[in-house]
Amino acid sequence: MSRHRHLNDEGGATIEVATPHGADDPSMSRPVDESTHGLVDADPRLEPVAEPTAGPADVPSSTEVPADVVPSAPAPEPVDASDVLRPGGGMPLRRPAQVIALMNQKGGVGKTTTTISLGAALAELGQRVLLVDMDPQGSLGVGLGTEPHGLDTTIYNLLMHDGTNPDEVIVETAQERLHLLPANIDLAAAELLLVQEVAREQSLRRILDRLRYRYDYILIDCPPSLGLLTINALTASDSVIVPLECEYFALRGMRLLMDTLRKVQERLNPQLEVKGIIPTMFDPRTVHAREVLERVREAFGDLVFTTTINKTVRFAEAPVVGAPITTYAPKSKGADAYRDLAKEVLSREPAS
Ligand SMILES: Nc1ncnc2c1ncn2[C@@H]1O[C@H](COP(=O)(O)OP(=O)(O)OP(=O)(O)O)[C@@H](O)[C@H]1O
Ligand SMILES: [Mg+2]
Repeated sequence: MSRHRHLNDEGGATIEVATPHGADDPSMSRPVDESTHGLVDADPRLEPVAEPTAGPADVPSSTEVPADVVPSAPAPEPVDASDVLRPGGGMPLRRPAQVIALMNQKGGVGKTTTTISLGAALAELGQRVLLVDMDPQGSLGVGLGTEPHGLDTTIYNLLMHDGTNPDEVIVETAQERLHLLPANIDLAAAELLLVQEVAREQSLRRILDRLRYRYDYILIDCPPSLGLLTINALTASDSVIVPLECEYFALRGMRLLMDTLRKVQERLNPQLEVKGIIPTMFDPRTVHAREVLERVREAFGDLVFTTTINKTVRFAEAPVVGAPITTYAPKSKGADAYRDLAKEVLSREPAS
């Protein structure tokens, strides 16, 4: 077990609330190609066929439908009443969390580092933050001092078993207001098993919709691929931040990445937007890095954050001690850069 406390380790007033918005809407789901989830190599000339997918509205009341084909509606989750209700009223006190996926199919570009560091910087600024690991490598937990491979319950349990209580999975980190939904290698199996599920792209969304009123930001660390786990992350998100390493090959994957985002937006999540591109591992001493950054800014304009994250060995050191850079080296330039990014993210928040 983790040395961190699970959220349900202490008591508290609870109240049942309905899912905030239509995550279970069957019209959001369309049949897609098994191997690529219909998002990578689909012919753009082909209109997707709007076949209705089996869902609660389509289910006949008789016993003709086997119980394992149509999932039963998940039970409403208990949440802290103090988080949700005005004193004496019934309206939400806070708006739901902004859900942001940190996504780039290229490996080693700073997705996990940015998820941890940005999350920690947002928490420093008073935001309540949940970090969600959607990568079977489990690096997010390692970077926060949890040994995810020893955990009994992870995001795998939430994805595969509707009845799992998120409070048994979420762990507190050493930093106030910063919580973690950990993953480990079990998640690799979930990616295969989810393929057979109804509305398989929306499995994560269903989980996060039940947690949205507890947090201000939910950041999802994606794996380095465009498989079903990443598609789940994008379907569950309001926006995407793309960490982009400042080197030549980084630009080559951007077309495929943007194409994937557009297809998810068209077919699964019309609200999805790009929050911004964050240049990472920038070495201002090299002409090459400066040229790449210039080209990125030319190509993507205002989408690129003003902040850039410089290359420094401090980022490789921080996971070794299991702490965000803002804690491990709080006065370093790297920590300050992520604090600047956090302020930019806050300033890019959509008006309510
Ligand atoms: N700005 C930086 N300067 C120097 N090293 C960095 C920087 N950001 C991240 N690193 C290091 O680079 C490596 C890869 O970073 P990270 O794990 O965040 O990338 P990733 O995109 O999540 O990788 P993967 O695709 O494998 O999940 C790590 O060792 C990390 O410590
Ligand atoms: Mg990673």
